[in-house]
Amino acid sequence: MSIDLADLDFWRRPLKERHEAFARLRQLDRPMFFPEKKIPFLRSGAGFYALVRHADVVEASRNAKVFSSEPAVTNPEPPGWVKHVFGESMVNLDDPRHARLRRIVTRSFSPRMLGNLQNDIDAACTRIVDDVVAKGPGDFVGQVAARLPIHVICDMMGIPPQYRAKVHEHVDVSTAYTGVRPSLLRSVALAGQNMLALLALQRLVIKLGHERQREPAGDLVSLLVNANPDGERLTDKELGSFFALLLVAGNETARNTMAHGIKLLTDHPAQRELLLGDFDAHIGGAIEEMVRHVSPIIQFRRTVTEDYELRGLHLKKGDKVVLFYGSANRDESVFPDPDAFDITRDTKPHVGFGGPGPHFCLGANLARQEMRSMFRELFTRLPEIRTVGEPELLLSNFDNSVRTQRFTSGFTS
Ligand code: HEM
Repeated sequence: MSIDLADLDFWRRPLKERHEAFARLRQLDRPMFFPEKKIPFLRSGAGFYALVRHADVVEASRNAKVFSSEPAVTNPEPPGWVKHVFGESMVNLDDPRHARLRRIVTRSFSPRMLGNLQNDIDAACTRIVDDVVAKGPGDFVGQVAARLPIHVICDMMGIPPQYRAKVHEHVDVSTAYTGVRPSLLRSVALAGQNMLALLALQRLVIKLGHERQREPAGDLVSLLVNANPDGERLTDKELGSFFALLLVAGNETARNTMAHGIKLLTDHPAQRELLLGDFDAHIGGAIEEMVRHVSPIIQFRRTVTEDYELRGLHLKKGDKVVLFYGSANRDESVFPDPDAFDITRDTKPHVGFGGPGPHFCLGANLARQEMRSMFRELFTRLPEIRTVGEPELLLSNFDNSVRTQRFTSGFTS
């Protein structure tokens, strides 16, 4: 079986085959180079080196001066409109611009601010499970996993109730284009809708920002648009990009981890029993193991800023490297028996939230908090909940997305 990570057909292969391919790549002495394919409407470069070992992903994440996040972290090079929408977004910037944005928004993710959100998160989980009980189980993604993260982001930002339906609608459209492109015509149509939806979201939050400048409320938008003690605040464009980033980074990731997570617990009854036997003792480990095992984000890219030697490989300025988180998370030299799902393993070094370094996931603790509340509510009220059959997965080389997953709750009303 030949392996070509730049070929979209590779990402259509069954998950098991892809894991086997990455296991073979990890055995190579050096990171392998993959020439890029010509994709209509996307600028293609020479290609990229695939960083598939844990140590290599950690080294590149840590050394952000050499492994730059500019001009963008997606691969292949995104079209111009993506840069327009996400251009001022911290994930695509290096210091000092990255550090400035991160400084302004970090306060909103402090343990105190997250603590204030706990009641809201619990109440949202209760409502979601109330609806499952009332309507009966069907699709876990639509009824459970997709509902919580977007709700939490809107609550956090302080999006007023009258704006929420529009936000949901735009987010649904904007995330429809993360998969492998189905056909040229369809991809152009989807990209157009995607861009318009993201721009509409930005306009909406910028309008809200102006309102909050006139009349601050105790929400995140108010904090971001009014000067902090150091006199710093986000510009309109930066606020728009930040909101779009939160919705893209914090929505699908948490939702997909929950959807894959419930399936993993169904497929591994002994692990499920262990968790339900002492939820508080095991839920922390279970969540980290889900993130490791699933690796919701498949890859992010870096561009090399100066000549550099990585594991015997001579990288030149301008070379691209792609960090394959799922492969690093199954590196057998760090995680014994890496394909096994074991909620008691030491997952400390996993890179599902990114490697150690300045871009480490800003929302990691929020995601943990959401998943802990959701699983607690589900297993307390529906202890027989289990998935049925296989999930319908989205074809993607970027995120491990679940479209639908049938489930049963064992609950008879
Ligand atoms: C299981 C859930 C999640 C996973 C697996 C995940 C994964 C990641 C990864 C791999 C990165 C690193 C990007 C890089 O190194 O270039 C990242 C960054 C980021 N994440 Fe998450 N994420 C999750 C949830 C969230 C949530 C809930 C939010 C916020 C609501 C969020 C906001 C962000 C932001 C703003 C960044 C950019 C940080 C920076 O560039 O400084 N994420 N995430």
